[in-house]
Amino acid sequence: MDKSEFKAMWERMQKDGYFEQHAHYQEVDSSLVRHVDDEMDRTLASLDYSSDDLKLPFPYSVELERSIKRTEPIWLKKLFAIPASGLAIDVGCGYGRTIRWLCNSFDHVIGFDVSASAIEKARENFAMHDNVELLVSEADGFPPEIGPNSADFVYAFTVFQHIPREFTARYVRDAADRLKAGGLFVFNLISEINEELDTGDVGVEWAIGYSRDSARALVESSGLAVERVARWRADGAPASWIWVAARK
Ligand SMILES: C[S@@+](CC[C@H](N)C(=O)[O-])C[C@H]1O[C@@H](n2cnc3c(N)ncnc32)[C@H](O)[C@@H]1O
Repeated sequence: MDKSEFKAMWERMQKDGYFEQHAHYQEVDSSLVRHVDDEMDRTLASLDYSSDDLKLPFPYSVELERSIKRTEPIWLKKLFAIPASGLAIDVGCGYGRTIRWLCNSFDHVIGFDVSASAIEKARENFAMHDNVELLVSEADGFPPEIGPNSADFVYAFTVFQHIPREFTARYVRDAADRLKAGGLFVFNLISEINEELDTGDVGVEWAIGYSRDSARALVESSGLAVERVARWRADGAPASWIWVAARK
């Protein structure tokens, strides 16, 4: 699929209510651990994340997907040494779920997404935040407004499983270009499923998988140094998750 077809596909999916209808995005909008009293949130928030091969203490479920998103600001900082100042870039930011907490620690946050309608909604959500900038991207690269050597942290959560490998490779190279020396790039991939797949049906989100070795190779081809690759598994999950941190 060429990049303009791909962009049109996501625009259609967003206009059809992708986030409003997606089971994984219900009850997670604030990301501020509103459900901190729930056992699953409390457990995920207090887990030891030092293992590079972690079995989550819950079977796979939609509730687990939601709880992982709600507790993201807590476990992400346990997994990696996330910077807390300067510029953060959120790749494939959607409505800005992650930006809600990023904008409390970083001086400046830039979120971008291939979908203009998702960015329109994100701009409404952050209209009162003068440290948040939202941009529409092409399907295979950072917007040109973001200059080289400018970012302290680049993040992409649940984006690269949905896009062709070639576009992902360009995103990783762009992250390497936009990071400052010493800056950190963190992203996740899915694994142990569709590790040969590179595309899918039109109108559905795809699930393109990577092995730990192909994840490392992806980073190394960009010139970044792999800092950590961690795998999460859950009983009954259709795939495992891979977490990658790469340093410039
Ligand atoms: C599963 S959602 C994740 C949204 C957000 N990262 C979060 O965790 O809440 C994937 C997002 O990536 C965007 N997206 C898909 N392909 C993209 C691409 N090639 N470049 C940039 N964004 C893309 C979609 O429009 C959608 O908002």
